[in-house]
Amino acid sequence: MGQDAFMEPFSSTVGVFRCKIYLLLLGACSGLKVAVPSHTVHGIRGQALYLPVHYGFHTPASDIQIIWLFERPHTMPKYLLGSVNKSVVPDLEYQHKFTMMPPNASLLINPLQFTDEGNYIVKVNIQGNGTVSASQKIQVTVDDPVTKPVVQTQPSSGAVEYVGNMTLTCLVEGGTRLVYQWLKNGRPVHTSSTNSFSLQNNSLHIVPVTKEDIGNYSCLVKNPISEMESDIIMPTIYYGPYGLQVNSDKGLKVGEVFTVDIGEAILFDCSADSYPPNTYSWIRRTDNVTYVIKHGPRLEVASEKIAQKTTDYVCCAYNNVTGRRDETHFTIIITSVGIEKLAQKGKSLSPLASITGISLFLIISMCLLLLWKKYQPYKVIKQKLEGRPETEYRKAQTFSGHEDALDDFGIYEFVAFPDASGVPRMPTRSVPASDGVPGQDLHSTIYEVIQHIPAQQQDHPE
Ligand SMILES: *[C@@H]1O[C@H](CO)[C@@H](O)[C@H](O)[C@H]1NC(C)=O
Ligand SMILES: *[C@@H]1O[C@H](CO)[C@@H](O)[C@H](O)[C@H]1NC(C)=O
Ligand SMILES: *[C@@H]1O[C@H](CO)[C@@H](O)[C@H](O)[C@H]1NC(C)=O
Ligand SMILES: *[C@@H]1O[C@H](CO)[C@@H](O)[C@H](O)[C@H]1NC(C)=O
Ligand SMILES: *[C@@H]1O[C@H](CO)[C@@H](O)[C@H](O)[C@H]1NC(C)=O
Ligand SMILES: *[C@@H]1O[C@H](CO)[C@@H](O)[C@H](O)[C@H]1NC(C)=O
Ligand SMILES: *[C@@H]1O[C@H](CO)[C@@H](O)[C@H](O)[C@H]1NC(C)=O
Ligand SMILES: *[C@@H]1O[C@H](CO)[C@@H](O)[C@H](O)[C@H]1NC(C)=O
Repeated sequence: MGQDAFMEPFSSTVGVFRCKIYLLLLGACSGLKVAVPSHTVHGIRGQALYLPVHYGFHTPASDIQIIWLFERPHTMPKYLLGSVNKSVVPDLEYQHKFTMMPPNASLLINPLQFTDEGNYIVKVNIQGNGTVSASQKIQVTVDDPVTKPVVQTQPSSGAVEYVGNMTLTCLVEGGTRLVYQWLKNGRPVHTSSTNSFSLQNNSLHIVPVTKEDIGNYSCLVKNPISEMESDIIMPTIYYGPYGLQVNSDKGLKVGEVFTVDIGEAILFDCSADSYPPNTYSWIRRTDNVTYVIKHGPRLEVASEKIAQKTTDYVCCAYNNVTGRRDETHFTIIITSVGIEKLAQKGKSLSPLASITGISLFLIISMCLLLLWKKYQPYKVIKQKLEGRPETEYRKAQTFSGHEDALDDFGIYEFVAFPDASGVPRMPTRSVPASDGVPGQDLHSTIYEVIQHIPAQQQDHPE
């Protein structure tokens, strides 16, 4: 219901009832409420502007007074017009411009001028058993509508990728408070390493242009009352050649080798992405001598005319604006049907064979490495530990490395040795190393050996 509840004036019981519902919803009934649908109204210059106001009250009323004031920043509020009951008293200076039809408190401004921009204040006073009053403020802006923008491209002839720059400028003849936005393929353009905007966003600079900048550009201009989009512009950007490749209608393609049956004529098609379109030339290489044999994207080779079984060809693509070229080499092998099948087999087998070979080699090497790693340290340590008498071992232990801590750096491997009983001993710290029986270390682990050293150093200070 919202604003519908604000009937004016609320003299009937129905009105009072509706006021009660409304004010119950608001949570308080202060007697008079003045409401405006919007505190900001955007007007169009030269047209009429209507400022709607709703009010409702819940007191007995004899006089209803409505007053409109106008204020601009840093100026005194101006009286526009007022009313008591149904009689309007305008300010004579503005009497042709402002209209009100009380008890309707809404204001009509006609025609709207730029000077009418500012704040409009409406005040309602209800006199009955005492006086209640309420007011509201509406901010009014005045603008000219946007006319259709036109995009200018600089340079209009286009720009070469990675060399040239481009500036798109949005030109608008009419409209105030313009906000510019650039769209590429319908989506907003953002600043990036190559894109930048002028202060007002009315120009888009692309420095340098790349193939990715190709697209449908338009300029969208908005102001509070209107928006207009320019026609789509497709800037000319010269690029390429990219992705040069040769294809043939017949002939089996294996990488860059085409195999062709004797007597067959095959058509080759050379293509690369570029703007403007490339110029293509075909080169044949025989006996270390090259001949330019044709210009244009297509080449027909009649195989019976070829003296050799294998001939090298080059397709060269050249973009005469970017000045860049690309070429691709390929080989034509002339075969009979039987030979072709053989060649096909060999070609399809050889990569498979090599992959299998490499895989087998890798697997075997890794197995060997693993075996060596498992066996080697075990053997060495076993020899070292079990080959020594315990005293020597003890000595070596106190001696080893701990004259210089640097000697301790390295990779330690955890190796468990079977106990004399054959049951593997778990590394344990429950027996302090200093209390340990010397013989115990013989069946210990490397991990434990490392653990014991600092403790033993304390027992035998240098
Ligand atoms: C306004 O109308 C009320 C009743 O409708 C009346 O009593 C009052 O005198 C009027 N005021 C003026 C200024 O005419
Ligand atoms: C006030 O008057 C305008 C026309 O001038 C009308 O559109 C509007 O509905 C009126 N408001 C009320 C509450 O009667
Ligand atoms: C006017 O207001 C006074 C106090 O607020 C109240 O006593 C009196 O009954 C009211 N009169 C009417 C007619 O509502
Ligand atoms: C493009 O802009 C860059 C940086 O402003 C400048 O160095 C370069 O000369 C410009 N290129 C052309 C073709 O104007
Ligand atoms: C650009 O617009 C043209 C038609 O004007 C359309 O054919 C083309 O697909 C559009 N390109 C993109 C990238 O939207
Ligand atoms: C220019 O556009 C950017 C985004 O494209 C926006 O963040 C910025 O506020 C705009 N500046 C002006 C003055 O409109
Ligand atoms: C091809 O020509 C180059 C010089 O143009 C020469 O160095 C090379 O030896 C020649 N190769 C053969 C196979 O004739
Ligand atoms: C580039 O080549 C085209 C033909 O593909 C030709 O029409 C054009 O004049 C050439 N432009 C230049 C600058 O050489």
